[in-house]
Amino acid sequence: MLWGGRFKEMLDKKALNFSSSLKYDINLLHEDIEGSIAHAQMLSSINILTKGEAQKIISGLKQISEEWENKSWQADPDKFEDVHSAVESRLYELIGETAGKLHTGRSRNDQVALDLTLWVKKRCSLIINLIIEFQKTLLEKSSLHLNTLIPGYTHLQRAQPISLAFHLLAYVEMLERDKTRFEFLKNNLSQSPLGSGALAGSTLPLDRNLTAEKLGFDSPTGNSLDSVSNRDFILDFLHSCSVGMMHLSRLSEEIIIWSTSEWNFIKLSDSYTTGSSLMPQKKNPDMAELIRGKTGRVYGNYISFSSTMKSLPLSYNRDLQEDKEPLFDSSFTYEDSLEIMNRMISTAEFNIERFTKELQGDFSLSTDLADWLVNKGIPFREAHKIVGNVVAKLESDGKNFNTANLEDLRSVSEIFDESSLKCLDMQSSLEKKITLGSPNPQHVKDRIDFWTKKLF
Ligand code: ARG
Repeated sequence: MLWGGRFKEMLDKKALNFSSSLKYDINLLHEDIEGSIAHAQMLSSINILTKGEAQKIISGLKQISEEWENKSWQADPDKFEDVHSAVESRLYELIGETAGKLHTGRSRNDQVALDLTLWVKKRCSLIINLIIEFQKTLLEKSSLHLNTLIPGYTHLQRAQPISLAFHLLAYVEMLERDKTRFEFLKNNLSQSPLGSGALAGSTLPLDRNLTAEKLGFDSPTGNSLDSVSNRDFILDFLHSCSVGMMHLSRLSEEIIIWSTSEWNFIKLSDSYTTGSSLMPQKKNPDMAELIRGKTGRVYGNYISFSSTMKSLPLSYNRDLQEDKEPLFDSSFTYEDSLEIMNRMISTAEFNIERFTKELQGDFSLSTDLADWLVNKGIPFREAHKIVGNVVAKLESDGKNFNTANLEDLRSVSEIFDESSLKCLDMQSSLEKKITLGSPNPQHVKDRIDFWTKKLF
């Protein structure tokens, strides 16, 4: 127990259980030890610890880290409030009374703020790498499908033909924005809260610049009161995970639709699908469904912790301990989802023939035909109406753009000539798109080159 002095009775067992965060904050063990080592080195630099004492503390801390890694020591949640108390108690067991000097000038309030900052920073780097890996997979797939025509949708209604590469690259753009959010957050975590004490600093000459530097920060934080109760970066992290999950969830939704027998655009590998216990023919896209489902929980984590924060007076309040479950849950869920989605896409097969067959003769080139009329000087609204009439006529004649001839078009408007039929050719439709950012294979290729240069 870290605070027994004025207490006559032990904390009730149920109360300890209720208040302990050890089950979750054990995830902070490495950061806790990293922070304690820097603190011990600093205490020695200002002669509060002798060199020998600092050495003893530091090697004890390193040993705890190893013991935890190789599972020879485990922190008991029935005994300790949190990871900080568990580590300190183990240090006592290992090095005796000297352990009691480590907490000089430090509170668990600045300690936990530091641990969380270090943890979030590391997790941002890890997530950034996972995002890059997934972007690379999407790029590799895209480069195979520059000319693979697929239907593009709005309102989930057939809209205009696009290429599979163009579709996949839309996700590369989304992922880039996700990555930027984590980069921004990581770069913003440049100040160390260590040395803020419980809320009002210390009477001891703690060298905050030294600990900040040792821990890889640019400087110490500027206001101790704010430092011990700031959890904005956790909310930023939770928000970034939510947006990232939302993108993966949208892709999941498409995978689920595309893998139905009705659409049959994609075949997922057996390794990332599951069967039904009753219906032997079933192959279910459970991983995609779970990513979509877990997105709800990740959103909930932001709502849950922002609600915890909203009425907290300065400075530290124990409510803040409720940051742990949402933080770890969102991080682990998003990281796993990124990895699973990456593997699912890299092992999936696209049913190219089916795309092409599906597009044959549909009306998705109607806008191209209207643009042809615009080039003949017809106002777009008028052109829209004419093409609408063409579609209606063909539909009532049981025809489509594949089987239509010039007479069919001219029966609606005399302006159509031989060259207008060229608009109805699906295969060349992508090249006819000339705007930047369009599915024109040259533009898509340029974009792939751009991303390849950036990511590989
Ligand atoms: N487990 C606590 C938390 O995560 C550590 C800080 C405890 N501070 C205190 N004054 N009780 O917030």
